[in-house]
Amino acid sequence: MQLVNNRIIITGGASGLGLELVRQLYDNNELIVVARPSSGLETLRKTLPKIAVFETDLAFGDQVTACAAAILERYDHIDGLINNAAVQHTPAFLDVDFSYESIASEVAVNLTSPCQLCAGLLPALKRAPEAFILNINSGLALVPKTSSAVYCATKGGLNIFSQSLSHQLENTNIKVMQVFLPLVDTAMTKGRGSGKLQADDAACRIIDGILRGKSPIDIGRVKLLRPIARFLPPLARKIMKSA
Ligand SMILES: NC(=O)c1ccc[n+]([C@@H]2O[C@H](COP(=O)([O-])OP(=O)(O)OC[C@H]3O[C@@H](n4cnc5c(N)ncnc54)[C@H](OP(=O)(O)O)[C@@H]3O)[C@@H](O)[C@H]2O)c1
Repeated sequence: MQLVNNRIIITGGASGLGLELVRQLYDNNELIVVARPSSGLETLRKTLPKIAVFETDLAFGDQVTACAAAILERYDHIDGLINNAAVQHTPAFLDVDFSYESIASEVAVNLTSPCQLCAGLLPALKRAPEAFILNINSGLALVPKTSSAVYCATKGGLNIFSQSLSHQLENTNIKVMQVFLPLVDTAMTKGRGSGKLQADDAACRIIDGILRGKSPIDIGRVKLLRPIARFLPPLARKIMKSA
């Protein structure tokens, strides 16, 4: 797969890993960023003016549907969809500040919105000569940690969704891919974890994985976690319980 002159949608492209993907894909491709309003998005508009922006809060299904419809109206075809945006809430269910409402929004952003965008943008993806969907996933989809139970569940769900969608699209022009990341140094992991991958390095490895065209793309420690989870599940659970 080439990543030149492609029209690529990136969700959450105004900050974190998404912004790094945007920076590295910007020169050679036509990028469309789906993001909610923020100062980061305003900066992106000023610094990388060729990017088309569709302001969308992915926690709201009606906004996601409207976003997909607006993209379909403006563009004939789409070569790539990168479902990157996600949120991770860390309070545990027993914590006094655990927010019941946060469950629905975490599921909506991390799992429902990627499914909606895949469905909603399918007509444009089908019109590309060769298209890809890349769902950004986590080692936590393979083995959960103690905190962030809902996040782990959404990533596990995204993994199963991606595999099933891949079966559904296997005889089409659309390749469904996943990347499984270890800890990356972004706002999501601020103040926790050690030995984190830098976001620009993670973005570079993701792009390399897309170019190789092999899925899943396991990065860093996930390369070790996957075989441990398969052959020594109790050890994997022990390692990840306190991750
Ligand atoms: N960091 C890690 O260690 C790690 C590890 C494994 C997998 N991942 C995955 O990597 C991807 C990128 O995460 P990150 O590390 O870059 O985290 P991040 O810095 O927190 O970025 C998350 C992105 O999602 C966007 N987002 C969150 N809620 C949204 C909403 N309601 N509507 C629209 N956009 C929303 C954020 O936009 P705002 O700027 O508006 O907040 C931001 O651009 C995620 O899928 C994450 O699960 C990360």
